[in-house]
Order: sequence, then C-alpha cells, then structure tokens
Amino acid sequence: MLEQRLVVLGRAGIVPVTAVNVKLRFRGYDLASVQVDLRESWRIGPVEIPTRLVLAPMAGVSVQAFRRQGRRFGAGLVCSEMVSCAGLSHGNERSLGYLRIAADEHPLAVQIFGSEPGIMAEAARMVEDAGADLVDVNFGCPVRKVTKTGAGATLLEEPDRACGIVEAVADAVSVPVSVKMRRGLHNGSRTCIEIGPKLVEAGAASLTLHPRSARQMYTGEADHRLTAELVELVDVPVVASGDIVSRAKAQIVLATTGAEAVMVGRAAQGNPWALRHIMGDEAEPSREEVAAELILFIRETVRELGEHRATGFLKKFYGWYLGRGRFPRPFKQELVQLATLEEVEQRLLAAAPGARFVLERLEDELPQGDEILLDLPISIYGGG
Ligand SMILES: Cc1cc2nc3c(=O)[nH]c(=O)nc-3n(C[C@H](O)[C@H](O)[C@H](O)COP(=O)(O)O)c2cc1C
Repeated sequence: MLEQRLVVLGRAGIVPVTAVNVKLRFRGYDLASVQVDLRESWRIGPVEIPTRLVLAPMAGVSVQAFRRQGRRFGAGLVCSEMVSCAGLSHGNERSLGYLRIAADEHPLAVQIFGSEPGIMAEAARMVEDAGADLVDVNFGCPVRKVTKTGAGATLLEEPDRACGIVEAVADAVSVPVSVKMRRGLHNGSRTCIEIGPKLVEAGAASLTLHPRSARQMYTGEADHRLTAELVELVDVPVVASGDIVSRAKAQIVLATTGAEAVMVGRAAQGNPWALRHIMGDEAEPSREEVAAELILFIRETVRELGEHRATGFLKKFYGWYLGRGRFPRPFKQELVQLATLEEVEQRLLAAAPGARFVLERLEDELPQGDEILLDLPISIYGGG
C-alpha cells in the first residue's frame, strides 16, 4: 500500500515539504520530497471522510463541543469518548448522554467498550440508532478500572474473545465497525500485528493503531514502524494515532506508514488551531479568537452537561486554551478560582473585548436545533 501511495503521489506531482527539513529515506524514497495531501477524502466502507485528519477519542475531553470544533478546524472524522456498553444496556443516564449527536458532527464514530459480545452488540445497535456513522470498538484503554473488567487493552491478549466481539458487533449493525488498539499489553509487544488481520477477518472495516503498550500509558514514543507493518498486512484503512503534533509529523507518518489518516489527540486539547496547522494553515489565533472559542466551548458544554457538571469539567481546559503564551500565566489561576461560569465568561470578555464579535459570528454560523436522539427527554442529558 505504501508503494502504491508513493506511485500515486509521483503521478500527482511531488510537492516539496518545506516544513520537513529532515533528510529521511525509506525504502529508497526521499521522504523530504513527499507530501501526502491531507485534504484528500478517503473511506471506511461506504462512509466518506473528507480529510485525512481524525480527532482522537479522549475520555473526559471529547464532548460534543470538542467534536464540533474539531470538524470546524479540519478533522474529517470525530469520535466520542469511550462509552460503557454495560452503561448503555442498563440505560445509565450518563452513558446515554454520550449518544447525543449534532447535525454538524458527521461523519462521527461512537466508541464503545466492554467484554461481552452480546452486550457490545446491543450497545452497537443503540449507537447506530442514535445516528452514528461508525461504531468504534475500544481495545486500547490501559486504565485499570477498565482492564480489570476484561475490557480495553486486555482484549488484545484474548484474540478469540476480541474477534467474537467484533463479529457480534459487525453482525448487529449496518454501519461499518472500526477497532482502536494499542500495540499490546507489555513493552515491546507486537500483539497488534498478530491480532490485526484477525480483527479484519472478524469484520473490522478499519483499524486505528496507537503503537504504545498499555503499560507505557503515555510515556515514551509511539512506534509507527508497527503502523507501517500493520498497513502491509491488512486490506482495510489504517489510522495512525500517537504523537501527531505538527504538520511535519503528520506528513512523515502518512508517508512512511501508508496509513490512510492520522489521528490527533492531546495536541488538540484546548488548541483546535493545531488541527488547522496540520491541515496547512499556519496562522496563529489572536487573543480574541482564543477567548471566543473558549466561551463558545463553555456555553456548549453547559448545554450538554448542565452547569454543575460543566463547571468542574471545564477547569482543565482553561490552562489548555490560555497557555502557549497566549495569556499571562496568573490569568488561568484566576479563572479556575471564579465561582461561576458566568464570571469566567465576563472575565474573558474583559481581557479580550473584541472576542464578543468573533463569538457572535461563530454562534451565527453554527447550525441550530436538529439534535435528536434516542427519543429521550432532553433532561436525561443534564442539559437544557
Ligand atoms: C485524556 C485522554 C483520554 C483518552 N481516552 C480515550 C478513549 O476514550 N478511547 C480511546 O480509544 N483512546 C483514548 N485515549 C487515547 C487517544 O485517543 C490517543 O490514541 C492517544 O492519546 C495518542 O495520541 P496523541 O499522542 O495524539 O495524544 C485517550 C487519551 C487521553 C490523553
């Protein structure tokens, strides 16, 4: 697939990668002269994805406001955080809340986790009914609370059960099913290479690989040589996740692995401009833009989670948005200590008065009102 990618690039005319000043050779190709077009569309089954940039699922981060923002800033595909299949199956309010999907999120994947094929299948049907374009299955979560239930990354060591889950989920829904996984449980593990083709045989229409071990959590580096190996072994699109923090890194990973797309996680936390940079727009945001995006994020999150939950949830975002020299350091501390979100908003507007106009434009541009879901009253989401 990599050979094909490079030949196609050759035909399309090779464009120099100015941002990549590394002299990198791979199988005889000079990668400094290869640029993969991130604006090209690609597919997972029948689902067309308009760019080669995917916004990562992140628990405690990937609320609807984050996903909608990701789409506006260039992500071709966005994903919910992982949702417990048991929670969905028991009608748990918080789990059901994750199935709230807005019109401007599509294409969107909802990710589920669990260890029982039957319950995963039932959850997948609920996800499909809620309007998701893809059901993503989590075989990557390294957190003990999840792995001790036999879900997440532990399933990589149980290939029969993992394949049983994928088969049951794929049989239950008509939308494509994708799998997101780590390299394996232990450092140096190559389990993803063994299990990847089996998961495809069981019905996975796409694989996302975050090539760190579960034990590594987020330390060390993602080893995308494994991503390249996986691409060679399967005939479905592979998405490369891990350490994609710049346009140069995205280009190198796409070119050297043959992955169909790159996934961006931590770099986009409170920094949607990272997505825009990766897509090729280098402009830095003004203070007004930063403040306006943060206020919009606050308002949307209140609508989704309700004021009480949103207040705690949002605190970590202040540092993420306001850092990088955009605002003086003590300003973040000041916001964290304010009692209400109303005060946070007022303080942001006082610091960047022009944000008011940017915000008005942003709100005007957002589609209104066609959010549905599951025929449940809006109160179930804690929003209003
Ligand atoms: C706070 C946080 C929460 C995450 N939650 C999930 C999750 O719910 N499901 C999942 O598949 N991966 C999850 N991940 C992993 C990311 O999707 C991604 O694979 C990983 O962060 C590596 O990409 P990055 O270097 O671009 O951050 C999470 C990562 C972080 C930092």
